[in-house]
Amino acid sequence: MDSNRNDLDALLKETRQFEASEKFKGNAIVRDRSIYDEASKNRLTFWESWAENLKWREKWHTILEWKPPYAKWFLGGKLNVSENCLDRHLEAGRSDKMALIWEGENGDSRSYTYRDLHAEVCKLANSLKSLGVKKGDRVVIYLPMIPEAAIAMLACARIGAPHSVVFGGFSPQSLVDRINDLKAVCLITADGGYRRGGVVPLKTNADKALDSCPTVKKVIVVARLGQPTEEFSADMEIGRDHWYHELIGEAEPHCTPEIMDAEDLLFVLYTSGTTGKPKGIVHTTGGYLTQVTATTKCVFDLQEDDVYWCTADVGWITGHSYIVYGPMSNGASVLMYEGAPDWPDKGRFWEICQKYKVSIFYTAPTAIRAFMKWGDDWVQKYDLSSLRLLGTVGEPINPEAWIWYHRVIGKERCPIVDTWWQTETGAIMITSLPAVTETRPGSAGEAFPGICTALLNDEGEAVSAGLLAITEPWPSMLRTIYGDDERYESTYWSKWEGIYFAGDGAKIDEDGFLSILGRVDDVLNTAGHRIGTMEVESALVDHPAVAEAAVVGKFDEVKGQAIAAFVTLKENWQADDGLVMELRDHVAKKIGAIARPDSIVLTADLPKTRSGKIMRRLLKDIAEGKALGDTTTLADPSVVQGLKEQYLSKES
Ligand code: PRX
Repeated sequence: MDSNRNDLDALLKETRQFEASEKFKGNAIVRDRSIYDEASKNRLTFWESWAENLKWREKWHTILEWKPPYAKWFLGGKLNVSENCLDRHLEAGRSDKMALIWEGENGDSRSYTYRDLHAEVCKLANSLKSLGVKKGDRVVIYLPMIPEAAIAMLACARIGAPHSVVFGGFSPQSLVDRINDLKAVCLITADGGYRRGGVVPLKTNADKALDSCPTVKKVIVVARLGQPTEEFSADMEIGRDHWYHELIGEAEPHCTPEIMDAEDLLFVLYTSGTTGKPKGIVHTTGGYLTQVTATTKCVFDLQEDDVYWCTADVGWITGHSYIVYGPMSNGASVLMYEGAPDWPDKGRFWEICQKYKVSIFYTAPTAIRAFMKWGDDWVQKYDLSSLRLLGTVGEPINPEAWIWYHRVIGKERCPIVDTWWQTETGAIMITSLPAVTETRPGSAGEAFPGICTALLNDEGEAVSAGLLAITEPWPSMLRTIYGDDERYESTYWSKWEGIYFAGDGAKIDEDGFLSILGRVDDVLNTAGHRIGTMEVESALVDHPAVAEAAVVGKFDEVKGQAIAAFVTLKENWQADDGLVMELRDHVAKKIGAIARPDSIVLTADLPKTRSGKIMRRLLKDIAEGKALGDTTTLADPSVVQGLKEQYLSKES
């Protein structure tokens, strides 16, 4: 368990001091808790009442079928997610309401009312059909943060073609792995995207990937950059590649939504696990939509005139659930931004908040810590009076960052919701509810109504600090790992009978507030992104120079965790800085820039137990420059001392 960021005593002390202070206004009022009471009376009818808010073509006959660890929600129910996110609002008189407001990195902008978005989604849905994509076919989406990303997801949902969004920062190899695992028939990409003034050559990457993806027959290319430059080329392969604008230019703006079963596959999203191979997390239709709708409404206390901005990329689950499906199912006005927070300067996010009068702002602690580091002046230049609610997700938020967020961004009047959930959970699971409960620095709050969590030890006994477990199935839970039920069972359900193992450690205080302590498995959380240590290790040993590699997370002030690698070389390879750079680049090329190790130490040997297991805890201590623990189980204790010295001299 990660003790660095989570010295709980210090955290609680700071929390109490903060709550006792004058600054803590408005949050500490316990309001009407009837939503919790209703859910605890009957969790199934609670969820059913949320499902009833959606548009169903046929009503379910059974709320839940639970054959551990396989759940089916709203059995027999029929609906279409895109109809719920679009048509339902047109029918309710929201046609002219802004659905999607987009700001490009260069300051260009576009906006879509619900009427516009409906037409655009229908046109793309018809285009997909005209290319032969049909219900059940898998479509991979590899796009920058442009409106077409959301449009593509909704268009796939409309025709019943499950989508899988691959983050635009991922490498061609990562794209190959995902496409082939899914046997996808179609790829939607762009000529490129903008990032910090540079161009991300998405089509070039896609072309490299497609050489190894025989199942992909059609490629749709959004012209984001327009003009080919020397840096990239959007070579179009005749018969396979089609320009998005040409396709939709000829398409009809009406497309009858495919009627889907509540348990039909909506999307697969890949995430890192404890092995080298990412897991395809399977989400289905009715339960997923029910829970993202309920949580968006309650957690953000969503009102009709809100302008809602979640800064995540659509390539992550946060983008799926809280940029597209949750907010749009609620008919919200959603802001989407293409670029980075520090480009062209460090006030960019606040400039956007001012420009669009953002009222709900949802981001990751890594971003908050970076804003904090850049200084209050960048914030103070802008009028943030439209903000009324702040959110955080993706990693534990340290009290210092929470307090800064509350003071400098929220001007001490905006509640902060710290939301715990995972790609696997699909939707928010632990959070405060601003209209109902108090919010506290360092604590994610309570389980959302209708969600049952527990802290357990290895034996399954309840403890006040231990492993976070979910004891009852929930509507938006993953249904399996794509094509790998066995891995689904062993990863999440083998620790305790019929209980979900989240992979996080947590602690509960006397008021029932949960504090998340971080991952307890070999998964890193760097800048709010999950990276499996094994994934990075596999990428390293793929380089011809590498004999063995061990990767650990080390504390990082901004990113939460940084990636530290220890590598032993094969004979005849020269250890030098050039090789270190090459290895870092190699990992970035194999996985994507987010997985590039922050540091690599080349070493003659790795510390191992007598049974040959790499001692990661020790490596972590070494990486963090901490005192060495007990080395009596090491085959060769001198290795560690050598490593430590080498590491320290590199850092200085
Ligand atoms: O360790 C927890 C951390 O992020 C992990 C899930 O990562 P991912 O599937 O990429 O989804 C991130 C966005 C939902 C969790 O196992 N995590 C997520 N939210 C929080 C968090 N840790 C502490 N506090 C949170 N609010």
